[in-house]
Amino acid sequence: MAEKKTPKRHKVREKLEHRLKVVEKRDRMLIKDFSSERAVLEEVFDRSTLMVIYEFLNKGVIDEIHGVVKAGKESRVYWGKDRDGNELAIKIYLTVAAEFRKGMLKYIEGDPRFKGVKRDTRSLVHAWAQKEFRNLKQAAAAKVRMPKPVAVKKNVLVMEFIGKNGVSAPSMKEQPPKNPEKTYDILLTRLGRLYRKAGLVHGDLSEYNVMIWRGRPLLFDASQAVPLVHPMADFLLRRDLTNLNRYFKRLGVKVLSVEECYRRVTGSGES
Ligand SMILES: Nc1ncnc2c1ncn2[C@@H]1O[C@H](COP(=O)(O)OP(=O)(O)O)[C@@H](O)[C@H]1O
Ligand SMILES: [Mg+2]
Repeated sequence: MAEKKTPKRHKVREKLEHRLKVVEKRDRMLIKDFSSERAVLEEVFDRSTLMVIYEFLNKGVIDEIHGVVKAGKESRVYWGKDRDGNELAIKIYLTVAAEFRKGMLKYIEGDPRFKGVKRDTRSLVHAWAQKEFRNLKQAAAAKVRMPKPVAVKKNVLVMEFIGKNGVSAPSMKEQPPKNPEKTYDILLTRLGRLYRKAGLVHGDLSEYNVMIWRGRPLLFDASQAVPLVHPMADFLLRRDLTNLNRYFKRLGVKVLSVEECYRRVTGSGES
């Protein structure tokens, strides 16, 4: 994947990763004080990203931004609050994480909502954040329970925080459901709604992208979800269902066949 990297880029990346690590350590100790948060933010993000965050703060979309909930290679999720004290998740895609450009491209190409998007890394990362926002909007309109989208600009996505007091609800990976049969059934119903009412395939379904919240499963991480017209939609749906079955089979659930799941989700009568 990264064969073509020049030594210089390697170095920059190494440096950056080191800085991220240092910052992450500090983030854990972070408290409400925005001035110290600003110092940290400035180390991680470029000017453009900072401007977006400040704009959200000025407009009151965000009232407080606290420490990092999760720092991945491609994005960082921060915990924040709005003016009414509602908890927010602020997902910031790193525009410097150019390696995932290739990975993103195939999900954006073939999505008619993103026709004509420029191919430079920055534009693609912005489209990626937009895509997650729009997918969450479509899901909400179809009444599929996922984090509610609040705002998006450039590479910054603000959404409902799933969890409490800055602690995210556990993923199914971290905390297997107490009632696997029922959870499996609910997930198939949700995927069906997502498919038929929202016109979307999740595309990255696994126990890592389902949280257990108030005893029920909740799908999230929708950046790679594609509309049904996408050439990969069918393949991705079958892959999602295969992952789902693998996970629940391990928990002892008598799972349906992937084809049965497929029919249930898509609502297609014939095989
Ligand atoms: N809306 C949210 N509410 C609470 N925690 C969240 C939310 N979105 C993401 N997280 C936390 O951040 C982690 C990474 O988020 P995710 O959307 O899966 O990003 P990635 O694309 O890096 O997989 C999640 O596993 C979860 O712990
Ligand atoms: Mg994820």
